[in-house]
This record gives sequence, structure tokens and C-alpha cells, in this order.
Amino acid sequence: MKSSSEIIALEGRHDSGLYSKQPLVLVRGEGARLWDADGREYIDCVGGHGVANVGHANPAVIRAVTEQVQRLVICPNGFYNDQRAQLLAELTRIGPPGLERAFLCNSGTEAVEAALKFARLATCRTKIIAAMRGFHGRTFGALSATCRSQYRPPFEPLVPGFESVPYNRLEQMQQVVDEETAAVILEIVQGEGGVIPGDGGYLRGVQALCQERGALFIVDEVQTGFGRTGRMFASQHHDLRPDLMCVAKSIAGGLPMGGVLIGSRVGDLPRKVHGSTFGGNPLACAAALATIRYIESEHLPERAAELGARLMAGLQAISSPLIRDVRGLGLMVGMELKGKVAPYLAGLSDRGVLALSAGATVMRFLPPLVISAEDVDTVVERVAAVLENEE
Ligand SMILES: Cc1ncc(COP(=O)(O)O)c(C=O)c1O
Repeated sequence: MKSSSEIIALEGRHDSGLYSKQPLVLVRGEGARLWDADGREYIDCVGGHGVANVGHANPAVIRAVTEQVQRLVICPNGFYNDQRAQLLAELTRIGPPGLERAFLCNSGTEAVEAALKFARLATCRTKIIAAMRGFHGRTFGALSATCRSQYRPPFEPLVPGFESVPYNRLEQMQQVVDEETAAVILEIVQGEGGVIPGDGGYLRGVQALCQERGALFIVDEVQTGFGRTGRMFASQHHDLRPDLMCVAKSIAGGLPMGGVLIGSRVGDLPRKVHGSTFGGNPLACAAALATIRYIESEHLPERAAELGARLMAGLQAISSPLIRDVRGLGLMVGMELKGKVAPYLAGLSDRGVLALSAGATVMRFLPPLVISAEDVDTVVERVAAVLENEE
């Protein structure tokens, strides 16, 4: 194998250049641990950006994928498939009530793109309302619903008909949702925007407003889904009944997959207006079925609630003038600092903990939900040490 510096040089030479990268070469993972090419071990609080809920190299996912890859990898959507049929049924079973159908695709942005198209189709309206600091993806429709100045300007003009209003402010939403509104799209906890939990009254209020004014309510659970926040889906904390629910990231134990769960207010979708070659392929479906089974049998949502509370309490107990706020839901935790987090993330990585940012000033923790209580405590200790060192 090449050395770390050779791998970094090779990838750096040929990579698109779109990503800012840490100088680490990760080559192996197990549970909530990662190893670099030099054999150094890390506690993983990046979790593949919220993908690795069931842990790295999960044996149940490995088994399902190994069996399925030998049987059938692709089955076009013009045919039926056993794995796909079971997964569609499982998604509608575990989702909020009333979502009886699903469309399968390959990523979060594709799920959002599909939901936006379904909303326009179903309502014959064009206006879409999103929230400021929301993040829904980087393709044109999803980007149009993403009100973040760092992502949009180079690609304007974006899709017409999109507006953004402040998050967690019902009065402002009441002013913009009208008889031309096809849908409102919201995250239940804004992830990329700084780990900002939605208020239950606000979210239920937006849902009622949509129903009253004939618009659809799209919930983006791409980051919050599959146990991350302490329930299978974050919508379930607030008894929400969205009309469309976008999922992706952790759905298939690490394999690329996305989906949209579809409620009855969407009605029948005309044939052929949307689709995906790889969407719902048997390999991803088998991985997703194993993932869902594992999440349920290992009670990962309950675990996320318990360990998330432990992580949050630990971080809140750190006494440092650098900390502005600690917030989150389940194992989706953000620590807002008074300055930029980048140097502290680098310091943490030197101490064997990988975490990520959410904007410039929020340190974000999205560990695999299988992380141990001891590792959570170690993370807290090392965060405290990094902050103390820099004061
Ligand atoms: C809430 C939310 N929606 C959509 C996306 C886009 O997902 P993907 O990167 O799989 O396209 C993300 C990605 O971070 C996300 O957090």
C-alpha cells in the first residue's frame, strides 16, 4: 500500500477540488471506530456525515449485501423484485402514519428533487416555501430550496418559485403560504444550518397551515432519519403527518440510497414523469432491509436518545468561555462556539476524535448510534481538553 502522503498527493492531484479535506487517509472502520493508513485509531463522530448509524462494517449489512450481490444487483423498475417489495412495505410500516407508498432513488438531493416535483404535480401549483439556514442538497431544485449564500450564487438563476422564511417563526410562514403554494419543505432539526431543533408547536402549525391552504408538507429527514434523533424519524417526536418525507444517508447501512415516502394527499402520480435507473436496486434494498432490522432489534433510537442526552449533558458541563450554546436531539448534537471551529476540530483529530462542523462556528457530532457510553465520555473529555488548551 502507498504511504499516507503518497495517497494524499495522488487524490489531491486528480480530485475535483470541490472539497476541503483533512490530511487523514481513512482506510478501515468498525462500529464507531475508524483507522487511518498509519494504523491510528479514532472515535468517529462524523459518522459519514450521518450515514453510519448502524456502525462501520456492520455484520448484518455485510451479510445481506454479500448474499444479494451474488444473486441480483440490478432490477429495472419496469419489473418487480422481492427485496424492493419488502423494503417499500417496511418503509411505510416504520414511517409516520399515512405514508403508504414510496419512491426510491440514490441520494438525499435526489429524494428532495423528487418530492418537489411530486408536490408540483399533485397541486398544479408552483410556489415552494423553505426555511432560512435549511439545507436540502445541491442539485438545482434542492439548491433552490437551500437558503445558504455560500452554495447558491455561482449557479443563479435557480429554479423560479422558491421563497425562504426564518425557521421556527410561524407568523412569517403564515404570511407566505397561499393558494399558489405547492409545498413547504422543512428539516425537523436543521443539520448543516447549525443543528437547530425545530419547535414542535411550529412544525405542527406549519403542517396545519399547509392542510388549510391546500399546500403539501414535505419533511426532509435525510439527516434526522433512522434513529438518529432518538425516534425512528424525527417527525415522530412531534406526531407529524407529512405528505412527503425525504430519506437517504443512513437508510442502507452506508450504501448510496434515498427515498420519498408519499401520503394520500399527493394522489396518483402520472406514469413516466419521474424515475431513476439505479433507484430501488436490489443490492441497496437488501442493505436497507438489514439496516432497518438492525436498528429495530438493537433499539438504536432508544440508544441515540440515551447517549445523546449523555453527550449533551457532558458538553454542557464543560466550563469554557469559548462555548456559546450546546443543543441537539438524540445523537445529533451541536456545540456553538464564539469563534470558528476549524482549529478545534483539527485539535480533536490530533487527540483521536473526528467531528465535523455545521457552518463556521458549530462543532457537530453525528456518531454511529452504536457508539459506547465510554466513547461518549472520552469525546467529552477530549473536547474539554481541546478548548482548555486554546483558552
Ligand atoms: C437535510 C438534508 N437534506 C438533503 C441532503 C442532501 O443529501 P445528499 O448529500 O445525499 O445529496 C443533506 C445532506 O447533507 C441533508 O443534510
